[in-house]
Amino acid sequence: QGGQQWWTVRPASARECSAIDPQWGSPCGILCLDAGINGRHQSCESLNARSLSFRRRTAITPSWTGTAQADMHVDDGIIIAPSILASNFSRLADEVSAIDRAGADWIHLDVMDGHFVPNLTFGPPVIKALRHVTDRTFDAHLMVSNPDALLDSYAKAGAEIITVHAEACPHLDRTLSRIRELGCRAGVSLNPHSPADVLANVLDRLDLILVMTVNPGFGGQSFIGEMVEKIATIRQMTAGRDIVIEVDGGITAETAPLVAAAGARALVAGSAVFKGDGEAAYRANIDAIRTAAAAAR
Ligand code: DX5
Ligand code: ZN
Repeated sequence: QGGQQWWTVRPASARECSAIDPQWGSPCGILCLDAGINGRHQSCESLNARSLSFRRRTAITPSWTGTAQADMHVDDGIIIAPSILASNFSRLADEVSAIDRAGADWIHLDVMDGHFVPNLTFGPPVIKALRHVTDRTFDAHLMVSNPDALLDSYAKAGAEIITVHAEACPHLDRTLSRIRELGCRAGVSLNPHSPADVLANVLDRLDLILVMTVNPGFGGQSFIGEMVEKIATIRQMTAGRDIVIEVDGGITAETAPLVAAAGARALVAGSAVFKGDGEAAYRANIDAIRTAAAAAR
């Protein structure tokens, strides 16, 4: 497509880069088609740029454009995005690998700064490390006060969808444009108290709207039923546009049909996916949410 080559498996020439990443002071480690082969790259920066484009072609494009390589259930069906917030952090790579094998479409990355929300999780170094584990689309949900300061770092670390909170962005139009400039899909999240119409003037800049169905900060909270109406309002507002409506918080096989019927297509679920132990349990949990949601669309 577009004269480019699309890989669905890692090309044999891909190597892990051993250059020291100037930002983190540790080996870059990211996959690159040329690293270690012909020494053409002069800096980690260029290695990262190349490896990100490699990843976009393998990971995000099938999810978003419906090319022949795409998983059909992602093309126009329900997208399940397990939140690793509910995983066992002491075995993070294994957990991400398990949800990949269990059928997750996207990996939802809850970034919290202890300021915008009263909790602290992880940032670009952890996201970058996880890029070795899966080719699934990385869906970064930035619950941070000043997302503009680190957008480049998240893109460089391998985030493919970057979602900021409307409540944290005084210059939302500029922030969303910057996310797209970085080659990522631009999302905006709305806290439960924020009305849908705060997005009315930035719809042209958006690829995704994330409706919070809990107050952000913690996993395992109860679904706020009033948000179903907001999802329906957003569906009307975005009719005819290529914007994915995503929901996050308290999503289970019981609440999934409510949000799917209202128009949500991407469903984040933390505690309802990471229930039980390992791949088989996670697969059953993902399937239950997907089936319940699909039946309600
Ligand atoms: C909340 C996070 C959610 C959370 C969802 O601030 O954005 O992604 O992990 O967890 P559950 O599915 O357990 O409500
Ligand atoms: Zn989230």
